[in-house]
Amino acid sequence: MCGIVGYIGQKDTKDILLSGLEKLEYRGYDSAGIAVRNAGGVHVSKVKGRIAALREAVNEDVHATMGIGHTRWATHGAPSRENAHPHQSSTERFTIVHNGVIENYMDIRNQYLQDVALQSETDTEIIVQLIEVFYNELNDVAAAFRKAVELLTGSYAIALIDSEDSETIFVAKNKSPLLVGLGDGFNMVASDSMAALHVTDQFLELMDKETVILRRGEVKIIDPDGQQVTREPFKAEIDATDIEKGTYPHFMLKEIDEQPFVIRKIIQEYQNENDEIKLDPQIREAMKTCDRIYIIAAGTSYHAGLLGKQFIEKLANIPVEVHVASEFSYNMPHLSEKPLFVYISQSGETADSRSVLVQTKKLGHPALTITNVPGSTLSREADYTMHLHAGPEIAVASTKAYTAQMAVLAILAVDTARAKGIELDFDPMQELGIVANAMEALTDQKEELEELARDYLSVTRNCFFIGRGIDYYVGLEGSLKLKEISYIQAEGFAGGELKHGTIALIEEGTPVIALATQENVNYSIRGNVQEVEARGANSMIISMKGLDKEGDAFVIPHVHDLLTPLVSVVPFQLISYYAALHRDCDVDKPRNLAKSVTVE
Ligand code: AGP
Repeated sequence: MCGIVGYIGQKDTKDILLSGLEKLEYRGYDSAGIAVRNAGGVHVSKVKGRIAALREAVNEDVHATMGIGHTRWATHGAPSRENAHPHQSSTERFTIVHNGVIENYMDIRNQYLQDVALQSETDTEIIVQLIEVFYNELNDVAAAFRKAVELLTGSYAIALIDSEDSETIFVAKNKSPLLVGLGDGFNMVASDSMAALHVTDQFLELMDKETVILRRGEVKIIDPDGQQVTREPFKAEIDATDIEKGTYPHFMLKEIDEQPFVIRKIIQEYQNENDEIKLDPQIREAMKTCDRIYIIAAGTSYHAGLLGKQFIEKLANIPVEVHVASEFSYNMPHLSEKPLFVYISQSGETADSRSVLVQTKKLGHPALTITNVPGSTLSREADYTMHLHAGPEIAVASTKAYTAQMAVLAILAVDTARAKGIELDFDPMQELGIVANAMEALTDQKEELEELARDYLSVTRNCFFIGRGIDYYVGLEGSLKLKEISYIQAEGFAGGELKHGTIALIEEGTPVIALATQENVNYSIRGNVQEVEARGANSMIISMKGLDKEGDAFVIPHVHDLLTPLVSVVPFQLISYYAALHRDCDVDKPRNLAKSVTVE
């Protein structure tokens, strides 16, 4: 959560920082600020609200060639101007932005800052005040910065400027993502390469506990032992147009439409010239030789994991457990003798999943991360990575990453089955090709789905998604999509479970959306629909061609049984999108959320 950016160079920095922050808004967007330094001192502008509001608040007449910026998702202290970053030390000599959580901030406050009058409720202000206290002691900014950073426990990506120094941005990183962007006559620091792509595509990775002295013509990386480190830059593979909306009104709609292309890209990336599955042989071996797979994930990725379990158990015959990352950390089940941990994460930065990864690595268990961001923390720290190839996903509500996760999991399951000598009557690449075509057909039916959203969801305060078997798992994802962007209270239920309590919530007109794509439960799920209709529900059935019946509200094209979730989720995504739109909600940036959840 939170995004930071810093620039030191020749150009006026305001716009570089603001454009960078706009690209980081997915990390949090409840308040924002920048601080720029020129001969007249440090100028801070901050607001409660979005970068658009910050743009209006920034003084156009202030020009500077160095500065730092921040977009916030509140952890310590409410979203307000006072708690917005940048924060300054009491004399205003030092100014800081920070992403992360300082776990020992109260201890630091009690031990070192008894006499300091704090201006905010944040853990961040503690850092900048501590630097000033140490500076008064040591009379050396770099030493004071290092000494303060060494005391911090928790996660941080920090950029600090000194009103007395026109040449340096002081940087530190632990657990929170941070990259250095390299340029001709300038350098940058940013939580994500997207924030600097408008000026450079050359980056340096930073490791945990490293500090950096960032100057116009110099990047000095210092490791935790105080030794200078040299590192090769890498080129960001993201195309700048991938992170623009183009003609779309929202990123979410663009990303829904991109799904067929993503599936085709996955087919291409995971297939060799002999039409065999292309996979790191070490992953194949790890899958083949483990005795149980533990999938760890959160939110939408957890929902993809539930379907991954179906693919792997049904095709490769390996037992799989799927766990919510935030629960697993303190509620670890009895593990099998030879487990393999599979972390599913679009961002690769989810703190809950990372905390499990740290624990299971300590126990010596191998880990595979399936992610959309190969250089991310979960990818770097796992033994193996499978890339989703979905392209940047900007909308907070995950769509194309979810379907990509399922496609990659299906390929992994088939590869494992083949490696184990299991004969399958299932060609994943051919079936995924059919899925891509079906997705395309659905994204062409937006008007129909918009109408369904209007008819069923315009005025309701709640909604239920029901299904059986894998349709139930897709219902969980449908309900998450709807609630997170439209604020309608939506819940997903196993069709047969409703009558064990939840049916009490069905009133006259309550929307119930049922999914019927599985032949073996087609009859029973329709029975569940009858039950809720008898109690006044306003129900709709979304079925699959071949299993459809008269009166079904929407019929998806026929695809292989196992892969129906990749297709049946598309109407749910679009219905959720239009429901949110009709309710005037901020589709891409729903309230209280952030795209990348980097706090536990
Ligand atoms: C869903 O739309 C959300 N963006 C959220 O549930 C997300 O899937 C979850 O926070 C996990 O994120 P990750 O995939 O980046 O680990």
